[in-house]
Amino acid sequence: MSEKRYVYDPAWEQERERLAGIEALWDPGTQAILSRFVGAGSRVLEAGAGGGSVVSWLASQVGASGHVLAVDIDTRFVEPLASDVVEVRKADLVTGELPVGEYDVVHSRMVLEHIPERADVLRRLAGALRPGGTLVLEDYDWSSFGFEATDEAPQRVTEALLALMAAAGFEREYGRRLPAALAEAGLTDVLGEGRSLIIDGSHPGFAFFSLSLEQLAPAAIEAGLMRAEDADSLRARMASGGERIITPTLVAAIGRCP
Ligand SMILES: C[S@@+](CC[C@H](N)C(=O)[O-])C[C@H]1O[C@@H](n2cnc3c(N)ncnc32)[C@H](O)[C@@H]1O
Repeated sequence: MSEKRYVYDPAWEQERERLAGIEALWDPGTQAILSRFVGAGSRVLEAGAGGGSVVSWLASQVGASGHVLAVDIDTRFVEPLASDVVEVRKADLVTGELPVGEYDVVHSRMVLEHIPERADVLRRLAGALRPGGTLVLEDYDWSSFGFEATDEAPQRVTEALLALMAAAGFEREYGRRLPAALAEAGLTDVLGEGRSLIIDGSHPGFAFFSLSLEQLAPAAIEAGLMRAEDADSLRARMASGGERIITPTLVAAIGRCP
């Protein structure tokens, strides 16, 4: 287990809903990228499988002759997806057993940014590829993030949440470093691309941001990082649905195992 623990609690009552926000925001783009490398019969490792939407989609793409290994430190949401095609493995990506040299595609989204030992994990994920296989990593770069409103309270709340996450090992600009990290790990033909959306409360992905605030605000207030009145006012404004945000940039880096 990592010395610093994943900052979000998988047992929190609204965690599946928060993960669904991630899926609503990013699944279309993730599928578009992965469909360049995944087909019938592919063997795919999904690292940090979370709510499981990518696992379900991968299973539909690889078919009966393919294989999807879904790994997470907490597998409660992906266990129901286990089948002849989908293997679910509860493991810590830092210390757990991972396959070596077996997979056509290895994908991980919004996971390494949370793990202090991310360079080692990246090397282990690359090591799971067969020669010629493809690594696709997606992580946030938070520098584009912001609220449409220009007053300072939303900015203070954002900084407090990012500081709390950083104390648990989160790297807020890891996304922009991904292409270099893949190249350093020995991947070739490295590509990088990013995507970001401007959304309000009518977008199902908005729940990722409002529920992240909901889950982490008590700990940030307790740690002296956030003013309770800032959290309360921003929560009310986000609940009104009219608050518009620009998301962090989700960077996808793609590289090939030589
Ligand atoms: C922000 S969620 C992203 C879930 C999913 N990849 C997605 O994009 O929809 C991060 C996931 O990484 C998992 N995770 C965090 N640290 C981990 C570790 N050290 N080993 C394995 N999984 C980890 C969490 O349990 C969680 O499911």
